[in-house]
Amino acid sequence: MKNIVITGGAGFIGSHVVRLFVNKYPEYNIINLDKLTYAGNLANLKDIEDKPNYKFVKMDICDFDAFYQLMQDEKIDGIIHLAAESHVDRSIKDPFTFARTNVMGTLSLLQAAKLYWESLPEKYEGKRFYHISTDEVYGALSMTHPEGIEPPFTTTASSSEHHLAYGEDFFYETTKYNPHSPYSASKASSDHFVRAYHDTYGMPTIVTNCSNNYGPFQFPEKLIPLFINNIRNRKPLPVYGKGENVRDWLYVVDHARAIDVIFHKGTIAETYNIGGFNEWKNIDIIKTVINTVDRLLGRPEGADMDLITYVTDRLGHDARYAIDSTKLQRELGWEPSLQFEEGIEKTVKWYLENEEWLNNITSGDYEKYYESMYKNR
Ligand code: NAD
Ligand code: TYD
Repeated sequence: MKNIVITGGAGFIGSHVVRLFVNKYPEYNIINLDKLTYAGNLANLKDIEDKPNYKFVKMDICDFDAFYQLMQDEKIDGIIHLAAESHVDRSIKDPFTFARTNVMGTLSLLQAAKLYWESLPEKYEGKRFYHISTDEVYGALSMTHPEGIEPPFTTTASSSEHHLAYGEDFFYETTKYNPHSPYSASKASSDHFVRAYHDTYGMPTIVTNCSNNYGPFQFPEKLIPLFINNIRNRKPLPVYGKGENVRDWLYVVDHARAIDVIFHKGTIAETYNIGGFNEWKNIDIIKTVINTVDRLLGRPEGADMDLITYVTDRLGHDARYAIDSTKLQRELGWEPSLQFEEGIEKTVKWYLENEEWLNNITSGDYEKYYESMYKNR
C-alpha cells in the first residue's frame, strides 16, 4: 500500500496519526485531507510539513466530485478517516452540521472510493477503508457492583490485568449501539454505512471505537485542555452536574499507535475497541489537573481549587464510558505505553510550554463562542 489519504489530519488525533505515518513510513505518500474547520490547524503539523512524503489538500469530505478526482489523480490505496465534527456540546446546539459532515461526508468518501476501486483491474485487492469512531456509540454504562460495593473497585472482569472500574459492565465489540447525543448518533450512523459498504459491495473496511483521548494539540473546548487553559488564566472551571460522570482516558499517541497496528494488521470487516482500562470521575481528573498546573506554574498546589464552578448539566449527559480492549491487546499485541499520571504530567507541561499555540487558538472567534456557551449554562 503506497498512497494513503488521512482525513481530518489537521485536527487533534489526525495530526498525531499523520505525524506517525509520515515519520515511520517514508515509502508511503501521505495526503492529509482537511477542510480546516475551527478545529483544524496546520500549526499542529509544523514539524513534518516539509517532508517529501507529505502533502496537504484542503477539501470538504462532502465534496464527492473533488474526492473522486483525488482518488484517481493520487491512485489512492488506503483511507484512514478521522475527519468529523467531534464536540458533544456543539452537536447539542447544531445537530445538522454533525449529520452533514459525519454521516453524509463519510458516505461520500465511501461511494467515491467504491467507484474508483471497482474501476481498477485489481478492484479491492490491497485496498483499505479504515473508519475511526468512538465508544460513545455504545451509549452509557451504569455504576453498579454486583455485591453493592461502592465504586471504584478492583476488577479483573475484562482483562488479565487488575484495574479500577466504576461499574461491572464494559463496552465490548459486540455491545449493541445505543447513542444518546447528536454527536454519537451521527458517528453510529457513519459506522453503519461503513459496515454496509463491506457487507453489500465487499469493500475492505475496518471500524475502531476508541475511548476519550487526551494529549497535545487538542482543541481547548474539550475538558482537559480547556481546564488547563482556564487554570492558567485563572478563569472559572465549568463542571457539568456534580462532576461524577466517568470517562475512560487514553493518551492520544497510544491511539495513533493502535491505528497504525490495526491499519496494517487488522482483519477486514472486524471491529476493534481501543482503550487503556483507565476510568476516572471528571472531578478527580479536574483536581489532578489543578494540582499539576499549580505545581508546574510555581503556585501553591491546589491554590486554584476555588475556580471549580458547578454549572447546569449537559443535556443527556452519559454517566459512564468504559472500553474493553482485550481483543486488540490479545489479537494484535497493542497496549498503552503510558500510565495516566505520566500522560497528564506530559500533557499539562506541553500546554504550558506552548502558550503561543493556545493563545492563537483561543483568540478571536473562539473566545466569543466560548463566552456565549458559558453564559448560556
Ligand atoms: P477534531 O475536532 O480535533 O478534528 C477534526 C478534524 O476534521 C479537523 O481538522 C477538522 O478541520 C476536520 N473536518 C471537520 N469537518 C470536515 C469536513 N467536512 N471535511 C474535511 N475535514 C473536516 O477531532 P478529533 O478529536 O481529532 O477526532 C478525530 C476523530 O476521532 C473523529 O472522527 C472522532 O469522532 C474520533 N474520536 C475522537 C475521540 C476523542 O476523544 N477526541 C475519541 C474517539 C474517537
Ligand atoms: P469532553 O471533553 O467534551 O468529551 P466527551 O463529552 O466526548 O466525553 O467532556 C469530557 C467530560 O467532561 C464529560 O463528562 C463532560 C465533562 N465536561 C465538563 O464537566 N465541563 C466542560 O466544560 C467540558 C467541556 C466537559
